[in-house]
Amino acid sequence: MDKVCYSVGGRTILTDFDLLLEQGVNRTILGVSGSGKTTILRLILGLLNPDSGSVTINGLTITGLKEASYRQQRKKIAIVFQGGALFDSMTVGENVGYRLFEEGRLKDREIEEIVREKLRFVGVEPALDLYPSELSGGMKKRVAIARALAADPDYIFFDEPTTGLDPIGVYNICSLMQRLQAEGKTTLMVTHDLATAFATSQKFTFVHQSRLLFDGNEAEMRACAIPEVREFLSPTDQSLFV
Ligand SMILES: Nc1ncnc2c1ncn2[C@@H]1O[C@H](COP(=O)(O)OP(=O)(O)OP(=O)(O)O)[C@@H](O)[C@H]1O
Ligand SMILES: [Mg+2]
Repeated sequence: MDKVCYSVGGRTILTDFDLLLEQGVNRTILGVSGSGKTTILRLILGLLNPDSGSVTINGLTITGLKEASYRQQRKKIAIVFQGGALFDSMTVGENVGYRLFEEGRLKDREIEEIVREKLRFVGVEPALDLYPSELSGGMKKRVAIARALAADPDYIFFDEPTTGLDPIGVYNICSLMQRLQAEGKTTLMVTHDLATAFATSQKFTFVHQSRLLFDGNEAEMRACAIPEVREFLSPTDQSLFV
């Protein structure tokens, strides 16, 4: 992302926002609620268009292009949406295989094999024929991850993957992300969960009041003198955000 500005309904969400995603460098975007983190992911995916500035995926600047002309590029990225966003009327298996069925490139049997493999990877294969309403929150998140994996992306975006999970659920998501990274996937996560951020990422981007306030590694972040960053890492009674 290069100098991206984005506003909606006359409200500025992002100003001159730069973000570089490199393959193999796992990154977390941090910032208070409403600071524009989900918007950043949607802009990178081309689901939203910047007012100015540009978004480039693997050397191809997608800003201003029609979706069809960057579809190949776009396929390298999958997203696990905040809340999972599973289709309630479909089974777990149908949810995970959805994109592959849509593409119509593979035989049903081949798709089922991929679906099972991805569900096994996230540890919920027995849920194959269940509906989302029959799953716990943690299982839903894992199914959403399996769905993202079905298209075999290089980059996986996670929007608050651990929110609302118990400590074991958080641990599961964390170790899943680490396993994906070990397999060569690059992750970009949005979270408020600092423990998960530090356990899974090498780079941290802090967004505040529509601007990029900090970008660097864990040591740099912990040593960072910017008051908003310090306050985010260890909130005090004088919290700037209250
Ligand atoms: N379609 C829209 N219309 C109006 N305002 C919007 C729209 N989408 C997002 N916003 C506003 O943009 C700001 C950034 O939203 P965004 O969802 O990116 O925040 P976030 O950092 O992901 O927050 P959270 O941590 O709560 O998920 C919010 O203040 C939100 O109210
Ligand atoms: Mg969000």
